[in-house]
Amino acid sequence: MKNMTKRVLPVLFTLLILFSCERKAAEPELTPLKVSGIDGEALWDRITAESDYRDYGEWPAHDGLRPGQSPHGVWHRVYGNRTLLEALPAADVTAPEGSIIVKDNFDNNKTLQSITVMAKVKGYDPNNRDWFWAMFDPDGTVLAEGSPGGCISCHEGMRRNDFVIINPLDEGL
Ligand code: HEC
Repeated sequence: MKNMTKRVLPVLFTLLILFSCERKAAEPELTPLKVSGIDGEALWDRITAESDYRDYGEWPAHDGLRPGQSPHGVWHRVYGNRTLLEALPAADVTAPEGSIIVKDNFDNNKTLQSITVMAKVKGYDPNNRDWFWAMFDPDGTVLAEGSPGGCISCHEGMRRNDFVIINPLDEGL
């Protein structure tokens, strides 16, 4: 019996290590971005250096690569940070302060073209539910930031869902 334990334990241990390497890195808990410091660069930093948006979760009903609509990519993949996903279902249909939604936009060949982001920053734009909008090149160059009329006028159609298009916020995961 003792011998058996000696042989089995190292195997179990190795499996455990392999298993933990397979798991996604944990998304750190961060204080929400504030109006005072918000800009495209700070947001890029938040989603790539302070946390990696590819470790964020996804809506199970909208996970993986999905066909998208113009003006976004032909294909897209949407990530939501824990502040947002842990708040769902949100009975008040409102994403909480600190919520971040990142959308990778791909072309026909599934090559990443741009990254569009919505970040909930308390007090940033009360008329439009305090979303800070941004669009980046895959290398992080800021292509649009702030309250671009284009982003808002289109997403405004989903004002009743806090400007979020892909999934109802009052629906659980
Ligand atoms: C002409 C309409 C239109 C414009 C303009 C637009 N979007 Fe979108 N957006 C959509 C649609 C439709 C979706 C749903 C996913 C899809 O089909 O690509 C979406 C989804 C998103 C999502 C995923 C969360 C959600 O709401 O579903 C983000 C983030 C996003 N857009 C950011 C932006 C940003 C940033 C801009 C401006 C730079 C922008 N969008 C401009 C139509 C638009």
